[in-house]
Parts: sequence; structure tokens; C-alpha cells
Amino acid sequence: MTAKIINGREIAKEIRKKNFEKVTKLKSKHKVVPTITTIKIGKDPSSELYLKLRDNACKEVGINSIHLEFDESISEDKVINAINKLNSDVNIHGILIQYPVPNHISQDKLMSIIHPKKDVEGFNPYSMGRTLLGNEHVIPCTPLSVLTILEHENVDLKGEDVVIVNHSNIVGKPLAALLLNRNATVAVCHVFTKEIKQYTSKADILITAAGIPKLITKDHVKENAFVIDVGIVKTNEGICGDVDFNEVKEKAGRITPVPGGVGPVTIACSLKNMLKTYKNCLEGT
Ligand SMILES: NC(=O)c1ccc[n+]([C@@H]2O[C@H](COP(=O)([O-])OP(=O)(O)OC[C@H]3O[C@@H](n4cnc5c(N)ncnc54)[C@H](OP(=O)(O)O)[C@@H]3O)[C@@H](O)[C@H]2O)c1
Repeated sequence: MTAKIINGREIAKEIRKKNFEKVTKLKSKHKVVPTITTIKIGKDPSSELYLKLRDNACKEVGINSIHLEFDESISEDKVINAINKLNSDVNIHGILIQYPVPNHISQDKLMSIIHPKKDVEGFNPYSMGRTLLGNEHVIPCTPLSVLTILEHENVDLKGEDVVIVNHSNIVGKPLAALLLNRNATVAVCHVFTKEIKQYTSKADILITAAGIPKLITKDHVKENAFVIDVGIVKTNEGICGDVDFNEVKEKAGRITPVPGGVGPVTIACSLKNMLKTYKNCLEGT
């Protein structure tokens, strides 16, 4: 049986439509245009496309997206000052940082000084802590995108065996907490996991974000599993994910493609978070 292929672009379109309606209502209530600022340090060609797509999405739903660009050599202190100014600027309703940042700047420090009410990415320790405690506030966009896809497919996570291949701060760790909050049984694999197949082959839901093409073959997947491929890798043959799509789709029950799966939903989820921080700023949390 061939798997149902999840159309992330369609899901993203639905989210954008709902967001447009919500933004329009809030704009007419408060007479303030939601404005978010992205801090860019140096040039990273791999993030340019993502930024362009996100800016287009902002435009479509009526959010004003500003870029604050710094040279690669800027000091950490100057970036911190800029964030502090944005934190206290009443005309800015959300702050994002384009990662990666240069090595002499601490990504963790930048994440921790963005005011929680303006923290679009949900990486601030306060937002992360709330996610971990089950008192979710602003959820990081990629984990939120995975949850949105599962919700869209009406998956009841209670008691499901879920395996995540990734233990990064932006994907695997918050996602594990979010799934536990919904009473799934969660295993998290990473580079030091002895034999990932032992875990992945038992998963009702397999979520992979290693960034390694064809890491997940049909032998890694349980019959009829839901396979969500978060990985994005540029290869000579184009963009692909972690999953050997052609063979795994013959075994899985549902599968997200790359491109056209998690990626567009993540951008749409970033809009959801912008709406949340806009509301935080105007109406309080
Ligand atoms: N679709 C989207 O919207 C979206 C959003 C964000 C990221 N991404 C993509 O998702 C991927 C991960 O992003 P990230 O920022 O989380 O990257 P990252 O920090 O490099 O994390 C990669 C994770 O995969 C694990 N891993 C790597 N190779 C592995 C292997 N052979 N077996 C088992 N685990 C392995 C790593 O373990 P160790 O830490 O132990 O090495 C780590 O936990 C990238 O391809 C990125 O482009 C996609």
C-alpha cells in the first residue's frame, strides 16, 4: 500500500487564511499594524530563501516585516544593545534572529535576552520552560509545525509510540516535551544512539530531523507508520530530507515529502507565533 502523502503547502495555505482573518480583526480593534523585526548578522545564503518566503507570507497576512542587518564583524554587545532597544520599542511586536550567527556571538545569550512577550521563535528560556512544564505559551516554530500536521491529520497522540531522530534545542528537545504533554510515549535518538533502527522500527509516528539524506530507509520504518521528515538538505539532485522517500512511502501509512511537507507549515507557524506576540504586546499575556 502506498502512503498518504501529506500536502504541507495546502496546510500552510489554511493557516495563512486563518491568520489573515485574525490579524485583520486585531488590526481594526487596536489600529496598530503588527510589526516584527528580524536581526540578520552577516550573509548566510542558506537562510535567504527562508527569509524571503517568510516575508512573502507576512505580506499576505498583513504583518509588517522589518530586517535589521549587521555586518559579520559586529560585536556581541552591539547586538545585545539592539535587542534591548527592540524590547522596549512599543512599535515592535516581535523579534526574531536569523541563525546561524557568527562564532564570536553566543546564540544562547541572544535567545535569552529577547523579551518573552516578543519572542516569536519561543527559544527564550522562559518560553522553553513553559513548554517543558506543560504550560505552553510560544512554541518553537518547527515543533509547532509537526504538531500542526498531526492535528490536521486528526492523530490522537495519547499512548502513541513516537520516535524523534534529533535532540537539538530547536527541534528534538521542545518537540519531546510537547509530545509528552499530549501523553505520547517518546524516545529521542541522536548521533550517539547505538542502533536507531531498534527504536524507529517500533514507532507509530517517526519524526526525523538529522539533516542526513536517506538516513531513514524502509527497514527503519514500521508498517503503516506516520513518517514526518523535518530534514532539509541541498544535494546535487535538489532539496531532500532524511527519508528515502520512494521506498519508505511504500511501507508507511502517511508521509510528509521534502520539499512541500514540514517546511511550508513551519513558515506558516511562524506567522501564528507573530500573531501571539502581537497580542501579548497589545493585550498582555
Ligand atoms: N523543515 C523545517 O521547517 C526545518 C526547520 C528547522 C530545521 N530543519 C532541518 O532539520 C535538520 C535538523 O536541524 P537542527 O537545526 O536541529 O540541526 P542540528 O542541531 O544539527 O541537529 C541534528 C540532530 O540530528 C542528530 N543526528 C545527526 N546525524 C545523525 C545520525 N546519523 N543518526 C542519528 N541522529 C543524528 C544530531 O545528533 P548530535 O547532536 O548528537 O550530533 C542532532 O540531534 C536540518 O536538516 C535542518 O535543515 C528543518
